[in-house]
Amino acid sequence: MRKLVVIAAFAAAFVAGAAAAQTPAAAPIPGSVLAATCSGCHGTGGRSVAEIPSIYGKTETQIATAMLEFKNDRRPATVMNRHAKGFSDAEIAELSRYIAANWR
Ligand code: HEC
Repeated sequence: MRKLVVIAAFAAAFVAGAAAAQTPAAAPIPGSVLAATCSGCHGTGGRSVAEIPSIYGKTETQIATAMLEFKNDRRPATVMNRHAKGFSDAEIAELSRYIAANWR
């Protein structure tokens, strides 16, 4: 029974995803959600506890510039170039705005 519920949940998520993909102007993903993907490496609130650089306290322009340079292979990187390619320019603008405003 439990297995069936999980399968049903996946099916529902798949259908929802397919519907969203067909919507011409899909609702933008909030900056808080986009920025959550950064915390895994850069630490909670951008405060890294390891060797990966912290990204709190930066301006919106600094973050957006770095992300666009990573995305367009204009800044040397090991992982950020690949990570940045997963975001549209509009998503980069939104997550940069969110991080600059909240990760201080
Ligand atoms: C898989 C781990 C990982 C994730 C996830 C990640 N980063 Fe990074 N980030 C790095 C590493 C490692 C570097 C150093 C450059 C390199 O080697 O790619 C870096 C560098 C940066 C820099 C440059 C910092 C500096 O001082 O030079 C910025 C800005 C940045 N990341 C922003 C982000 C944002 C915004 C996100 C989320 C959208 C994000 N990163 C997600 C690992 C990650």
